[in-house]
Amino acid sequence: MKKKILILGGGISKERQISLETAKQVKNILKKKYKVLLSDLDRNLEKKIKTFKPSIVFNALHGRFGEDGYAQSILESYKVKYTHSGVLSSALAMDKVASKKIFKENKILTPRFIKFNYQQNMHRGLKNIIKKKLKFPVVIKPINEGSSVGVYITSEKNFIKKLSKLKKYQEVMIEEYIAGREIQVAILGKKKLGAIELRPKRKFYDYKAKYDVKSKTEHIIPVKLQKKKINKVLNIAFKAHKILNCRGVTRADFKFYRNKFYLLEINTQPGMTKLSLVPEIAAYKGITFLNLIEWILNDASTNR
Ligand SMILES: Nc1ncnc2c1ncn2[C@@H]1O[C@H](COP(=O)(O)OP(=O)(O)O)[C@@H](O)[C@H]1O
Ligand SMILES: [Mg+2]
Repeated sequence: MKKKILILGGGISKERQISLETAKQVKNILKKKYKVLLSDLDRNLEKKIKTFKPSIVFNALHGRFGEDGYAQSILESYKVKYTHSGVLSSALAMDKVASKKIFKENKILTPRFIKFNYQQNMHRGLKNIIKKKLKFPVVIKPINEGSSVGVYITSEKNFIKKLSKLKKYQEVMIEEYIAGREIQVAILGKKKLGAIELRPKRKFYDYKAKYDVKSKTEHIIPVKLQKKKINKVLNIAFKAHKILNCRGVTRADFKFYRNKFYLLEINTQPGMTKLSLVPEIAAYKGITFLNLIEWILNDASTNR
């Protein structure tokens, strides 16, 4: 009998469309060999598990609920095998403040930052604190969002205006701006899969640069850096994956500036469309999309 795979896609986050795209492509590649059900998830996960009785749940969700440990905790409670990271790792990686604190403690370089709370903090004096601790320009971003949603790079002049745009989040992160190159690394369990460089034509690697092919972000693989340097960034990504106790596949986002790698974040649910970065790195290493998705499936377990 064919194994039953429940693919979770869509969901309730800002990255719903991207997740649906990942889920559809995973479904297409798996449907020849498995019995697959794509579930567009809006908090009906329990019902789907009870009625479909999957052998494995393939988590193709991004953002809130799917990437932050909530969905994972429901899967744990039903003792069903699932892919990607577990509850705590997902929650930590999704929270940029929490994960950056852990990176720092473990001597992994990450841009300096302060947390800003719209209720508690006074706007007055904030610019001075920033000048002292971070220097302008700075990056303002939500603490637990993805796909560059709500990320702003701003000079001192536009700072207050940009800050007010994110008011609905209540809390945001203000981060030191790191110029330089954009490099991302894929980790597959114990394997340091590889790195890719992105050269956006836009001001930075924003939502459009990521998903709108017309914005023509250049993907460069192999990354044009000395072997020694590439090994270095692979090792940092692997270390970060390990210290957060991640499982399965992750993608680490870096800036490379003045010979140093700055880790921005770890993604525990990286995009898996055929045009996404992890599949592109895998393809370069001779791993087909089907091989990659099946590796993720075979790595699934309970108790992650
Ligand atoms: N501190 C920073 N310095 C320079 N660019 C940044 C910085 N933080 C974010 N960016 C830009 O914004 C993009 C998205 O930021 P990231 O922290 O990875 O959040 P997301 O979870 O939305 O991907 C990065 O890929 C990079 O292009
Ligand atoms: Mg990112």
